Amino acid sequence: MIDDKTKAKIKKLAEDFLKEEKPSNDRVPVSGKVFDRDELTNLIEASLEGWWTEGPWTARFEQGLKDFLGVKYVHACNSGSSANLLAFATLCSESLGSRRIKPGDEVITLACGFPTTVNPIIQNGCLPVFIDIEASTYNVEINHLEKALSPKTKAVMMAHTLGNPFNLKAVTNFCRKHKLWLIEDNCDALGSKYEGKFTGTFGDIATLSFYPAHHITTAEGGAVITNNSELSKIAVSIRDWGRHCWCPTGKDNTCKNRFNWKLGQLPEGYDHKYIYGELGYNLKMSDLHAAIGVAQLKKLDRFIKIRKENFGLLTDRLKKFEKYLILPQATINSEPCWFGYPITLKPEVDRQAFLKYLDEKGVGTRLLFAGNLLRQPYFERFSEGKDYRVATELKNTDMVMNRTFWLGLSPLTTKEMIEKINQVFQVYFEKRRDD
Ligand SMILES: Cc1ncc(COP(=O)(O)O)c(C=O)c1O
Repeated sequence: MIDDKTKAKIKKLAEDFLKEEKPSNDRVPVSGKVFDRDELTNLIEASLEGWWTEGPWTARFEQGLKDFLGVKYVHACNSGSSANLLAFATLCSESLGSRRIKPGDEVITLACGFPTTVNPIIQNGCLPVFIDIEASTYNVEINHLEKALSPKTKAVMMAHTLGNPFNLKAVTNFCRKHKLWLIEDNCDALGSKYEGKFTGTFGDIATLSFYPAHHITTAEGGAVITNNSELSKIAVSIRDWGRHCWCPTGKDNTCKNRFNWKLGQLPEGYDHKYIYGELGYNLKMSDLHAAIGVAQLKKLDRFIKIRKENFGLLTDRLKKFEKYLILPQATINSEPCWFGYPITLKPEVDRQAFLKYLDEKGVGTRLLFAGNLLRQPYFERFSEGKDYRVATELKNTDMVMNRTFWLGLSPLTTKEMIEKINQVFQVYFEKRRDD
């Protein structure tokens, strides 16, 4: 640990560094890191301590997330994609016996979204079964769930699109009725609520991402969250090489039985540290990343408030253009903490031309990730029926691929920037009216 005097000096230096004139950039960003001297001080402190690998800062970060979300178990890992892989692999563990998801089983999901929500299903030898979304919320079309069901269905895995919670009441009822696992990809939805409760706390297991575009950042990072002690134990093991030993890094003999285990076909007393009970990876978060996260957690309430305010202000300014735009709608009974502000253009507006115009005017945009995953180049190598199944027409998914984009509303988007967006839209659509 570094002493308080040194820490104060570092804080001062970090402050001076942050005060240095940075080149001005009047572009409206879609997202980015929001930090101050606290993140830098934690990062320096963690690096001077010299632990670096997963350790005390990670434990603090995990505890902070547990306290915020009110969940029993949080396991930090090195990205949201890793968290999705880990969550799915956990449900495929042999330790779950007949309840496990096996190769060849089917998992209901969406083609509209981010690839690494779906990839773990394929990577574990299972079939994603795709259904469509609603045009208004960009989330699962609930009536399609039953249409996707087959005797092989074992789970539902989907994201809360751009932070807008999917209909958790309908989805959890569906999963309960058919005894399916529910994996919530909550990567874009930290702070969103459904019926007053945080998303990510409804399913059997859920995930978070802390990549800079997200609600808080650790640079690279993610987490698996669950209230299920059995899944928690399996997830830690798979995250940590598949090891059977549960000592925190740097500790020995937590089980008080280190040299007395007899497992598998290993000799009696084989060191517990090197006994592997799961098919594992190494997906751990480093303490340097977690140190950034500890500082970010203190800002989370403020970040959530700003995202919600920016959503309200953007809606207020853009609703006069509804002749040309479809504005986003929160799912009924939800309070989203939006990741981005999705807009679908009416068919008469050319998206390519409009996004080029926004770019020229300094307004950053992004597409709704992969659009329709089935139309991505990597998906061409998969064959329908063998590697995946399409259960319903993906009409709205294609609409998103062709006509949707999103604007930033993170704390980097100031009120002045929202007025700039308003003005830039105004000029474009006024010109159309005159044409
Ligand atoms: C819904 C969703 N899931 C997973 C991820 C992957 O997270 P990461 O970039 O941390 O791997 C993302 C990325 O933004 C995402 O939007």
